[in-house]
Order: sequence, then structure tokens, then C-alpha cells
Amino acid sequence: MTETSAAPSIAHDKPPAILSLIGDTPLVEITQFDTGPCQLFLKLENQNPGGSIKDRIALSMIEAAEADGKLQPGGTVVEATAGNTGLGLALVAGAKGYRVLLVIPDKMSQEKISHVKALGAEVRISRSDVTRGHPEYYQDVAARLAEEIPGAFYVNQFGNPANPLAHERTTGPEIWEQMRHDVDAIVVGVGSGGTLTGLGRFFNRVKPRRGIEMVLADPAGSILYEYVKTGKLVESGTWAVEGIGEDFIPEIADMSLVTEAFEIDDANKYLSKMYNDFWMAEQGFIHRPPHGDLSDLISHRYEAGEVITVGPDDSLLTAFKRMRDSDVSQLPVVDQKGRAIGIIDESDLLVKVHRAPSHFNDPVEKAMTDRLETLPPTATIKDLLDVFDRGRVAIVMDDDKFLGLVTRTDLLSYLRLHMPKQ
Ligand SMILES: Cc1ncc(COP(=O)(O)O)c(C=O)c1O
Repeated sequence: MTETSAAPSIAHDKPPAILSLIGDTPLVEITQFDTGPCQLFLKLENQNPGGSIKDRIALSMIEAAEADGKLQPGGTVVEATAGNTGLGLALVAGAKGYRVLLVIPDKMSQEKISHVKALGAEVRISRSDVTRGHPEYYQDVAARLAEEIPGAFYVNQFGNPANPLAHERTTGPEIWEQMRHDVDAIVVGVGSGGTLTGLGRFFNRVKPRRGIEMVLADPAGSILYEYVKTGKLVESGTWAVEGIGEDFIPEIADMSLVTEAFEIDDANKYLSKMYNDFWMAEQGFIHRPPHGDLSDLISHRYEAGEVITVGPDDSLLTAFKRMRDSDVSQLPVVDQKGRAIGIIDESDLLVKVHRAPSHFNDPVEKAMTDRLETLPPTATIKDLLDVFDRGRVAIVMDDDKFLGLVTRTDLLSYLRLHMPKQ
């Protein structure tokens, strides 16, 4: 008989093969940008099996904890992570048979959260709008959980010496060999500071006389740029880019190694963000020519094919699937001539199907609301608020032409973009 359990049993005689894929990442020269007098190379850390540089530190921190007895078979690995360290730990610690519990701030991209869960990690979401010392701050939550859970090891990448050591022992020597000992400067972002400290230490050792420029790229809002430039600790702001930038100086970050720093703006790597035009527009990264009227609040424009709609003859099941797939709670109903003739939302669906789910086969026309709250582009925010007060969304029509919907979220995003900078 086969016994089933949540965690697969791991044979410990051989190290998990996936771990041999960590490190030895390729280096590629950037040849299509104007790099001035420099040759610029990228170390493709995304080629690690977990998709980031953090696989290296996950391996090094877990093996260090095993070596000094802090992590025993059957133990739980707990970490506060902006995501990539979580992926690395889920991969490494998961492959070695440990339970992995990750505390992730709520600004992180959904696909990263789904990814760590798919690798078997358990996730606690914490608040990203609170700072150190607040009980809901992600590192404080992780430290607390690690104290409460028997056999738990709090990885603490921000204070764990095995983090910079991974870069001193692997990333640095790889770059040095790949560049045939000809390196003048290295650009790093700082999250925990492990990369900065590890590479800085390695290159100071192998190139002590002429030294090497360590250049910090820091997102606007983080405190590190200002600290390097002035030595002062300023109040942190907010930034959208994940993984780099800090609101404190991590214990392992040796900021004295930085020789030059630049502030960078919020561009983003992650699929659900950078390749999502709506997110980019909402954040103000894509600039549409403003009309100076209500149409500027429409995030999904009908004319540009951005609005998910249903037809009056589509089934309620189709409407429900479209709502679920596109993560919206209502859809405009558009006829074959492109006219908005109704709107259907989740409550319209529920009214129809809650007694007899077979009504999912009914046409949308039977469940939709045809009393539309239409507004011309010239309407005011006050007109919009009146529509919302009646519990509806606004349909913006330029005469007969359907332009798009405006929801409460659209108005909030618009107002946020137009709030004065602090
Ligand atoms: C993709 C990526 N690059 C760089 C960093 C920063 O590296 P470090 O923590 O070594 O400073 C992070 C940190 O999370 C990251 O996720």
C-alpha cells in the first residue's frame, strides 16, 4: 500500500539535482544601446532555476544553517521576503524536504505569490504600508512566527552572513573569470545588500590597487541613494519596483563599498505589471494624450479594443467566465452594431442562478440591466459621484459612440495620479 502525505518523502543520499543548476549564469554584452565609451555586460541571474540571483543565497543560507545545526530534518524555514528570496528558498529548502513559510508584503506581484505557492511554500501576506517596528511589518511578522513554531529557522537574509558570502564565493569569481579579469565598474541594486557586500569584498580582494567602482542603482523613494550621497538617513517614500530599494540600512549591507549612486525611476520587471498596459497607465508610466474631460478616467477604451464585453445572446456562463478571467465584476453588454445596450454584474448573475444553476445557460439579455447610467465626456466628477451613489458604474458615451466604463477604482486611480507630490 502506498502512503500519501502532503510533503513528498525525500531520499537524502544524493543532493537534489535541481540545486546543481544554481549559479554559473551567462554574461551577455549589450551591443544595441549607446553605452558611450564603456562596454556593458549583463549577468543573467534570471537564468537561475528559481528565476533570480536569490537562488544563490537561498542555497548558501540553508546549507550554512544545516552545517551549524540551526536547521534540522523536519524543520521549518521562515523568511520575510519581497518574493525572489522566497522563490529561491521554496526551491532549495523545498527540494531538501523542509517546510517553507514566507511572509510577503502585499505590494508584490500576484504571479510571484502564485509561483512560491506552486513550489510548495506557505504564504502569509503582510502590510507593505507599515515600517519597521510595526507588528504587521513583514520582517517582524516573520521573526515572530519563527519564535512560535518549534524547529523553525528564521533565515533573515538582511542579517545573515551566508548571504554576502554566496556572492563573494560564487557571483564575484564567475564575473571575474567571464570578464577575463578586466572589470572597471559593477552596477548593483540593493535589497538586502548581499550582492553589494559580497561583490565589493571579492573585488577589493582581487583588484586591491586600482579598485573597482561599485555603482548603486536605487529606486526613487528608497533611502539608500540619499545615504550614500549625504550620509543622512531620510524618511522613506514608496516605490513600485520589487526587490531593490530599502527603508533602512540592512545589517549586512556595507554601504561604504559604494563609490557612486544613481536614483532610478519605477520601471518594472514583472509580467502582470510591465507587460500590463492598464497597470502601466494606472501608475502613470504610459502617457495618453489628455482630453481634459471624463474620457481621461477610462482605463479600458472600447475603441482600442481594451474593453471586455459580452453580447446580449451570450450565455450567463460566458459572462461569468469573462468576469473571472479578466478579474472584473461587471461587463458592458454590446450589440452587433457596437452599441452599449446594457450592463451585467455579479449580482445580476446571482439573482438568476442562485436557485437553479441551469440558468447559467440563459442569455445575458435576460439578466442584464438596461437602465444605463450614461454620461457624456463633458460630465463632471460630481455627476460621476452621483452615479456611484446609486450603486452603478458610469458608461461614457459620446453621442452614440461607446467610449468605455468608469468605475470607482478608475476614479481613485485618476485622483491618485493627480495628487500633489509630497
Ligand atoms: C531581482 C533582484 N535583484 C537584486 C536584488 C537585491 O539583491 P540583494 O538582496 O543582494 O541586495 C533583489 C532582492 O530581492 C532581487 O529580487
